[in-house]
Amino acid sequence: MIILKAISKSYGAVTAVKRVDLAVPGGCIYGIIGRSGAGKSSLLRVMSLLETPDTGEVYYNDQRVDTLRGRALLEQRRKMGMIFQNFNLLGSRNAAGNIAYPLEIAGLTRKQIEKRLDELLELVDIADKRKARLRELSGGQKQRVAIARALAANPEVLFCDEATSSLDPQTTRSILALIRDLQQRLKITVVLITHQMEVIREICHEVAVLDEGIIVERGSVTEVFESPQAAATREMIHA
Ligand SMILES: Nc1ncnc2c1ncn2[C@@H]1O[C@H](COP(=O)(O)OP(=O)(O)OP(=O)(O)O)[C@@H](O)[C@H]1O
Ligand SMILES: [Mg+2]
Repeated sequence: MIILKAISKSYGAVTAVKRVDLAVPGGCIYGIIGRSGAGKSSLLRVMSLLETPDTGEVYYNDQRVDTLRGRALLEQRRKMGMIFQNFNLLGSRNAAGNIAYPLEIAGLTRKQIEKRLDELLELVDIADKRKARLRELSGGQKQRVAIARALAANPEVLFCDEATSSLDPQTTRSILALIRDLQQRLKITVVLITHQMEVIREICHEVAVLDEGIIVERGSVTEVFESPQAAATREMIHA
């Protein structure tokens, strides 16, 4: 369970997130949708402890985490994996090298890393791409490498920031199916931000609609789709 209480975040004169309250139940796929500039990435960076909020509190399983620093913060962050639209992979490393990176940082031995690599490559279904250079991989395969890297240290939460926005519709579906499958098999919580309504419809259980830094609507995906209340939600559904 992740809880945000009255989170605000400004960048200079721009207030990206305005006193947002949010509760993400454990073991669900929670979608946050909003148009460009709505504050989705800013909110996710606070939730994933990459940035500290200006006001408000972040709780994981009843423990306050936004105030953690140093080693305690690193340990908390190890419980979270993250994937992005542009994959954020290391061009100097091949597929296996990218996935191994967090395991090397965590201090695993070469033998432990190789064993975990076998599992992870299998998990995201790219065992045949182990030694592939990044330029030899399709966008979908790169995202699979990024997912394997994000899951390498067995996180409890996977954050996805527009993870399918640069992929074609068919690849998007296969990556979403993979995320759904992993969520069920590994019993993780997934927080997914997107500007694509079909992504929410395809895999999310619950959704919050963010507009100009404020959550204007939230609920089960069925509910929100069947009777959208906020103007921003209707706009996203009919876009
Ligand atoms: N590091 C930053 N420095 C200055 N302004 C920022 C920074 N990050 C975000 N902003 C501003 O905060 C607002 C929200 O940005 P954010 O990236 O969170 O939106 P978003 O919903 O993720 O948009 P998109 O869908 O385009 O990714 C925008 O006005 C943006 O310009
Ligand atoms: Mg963004």
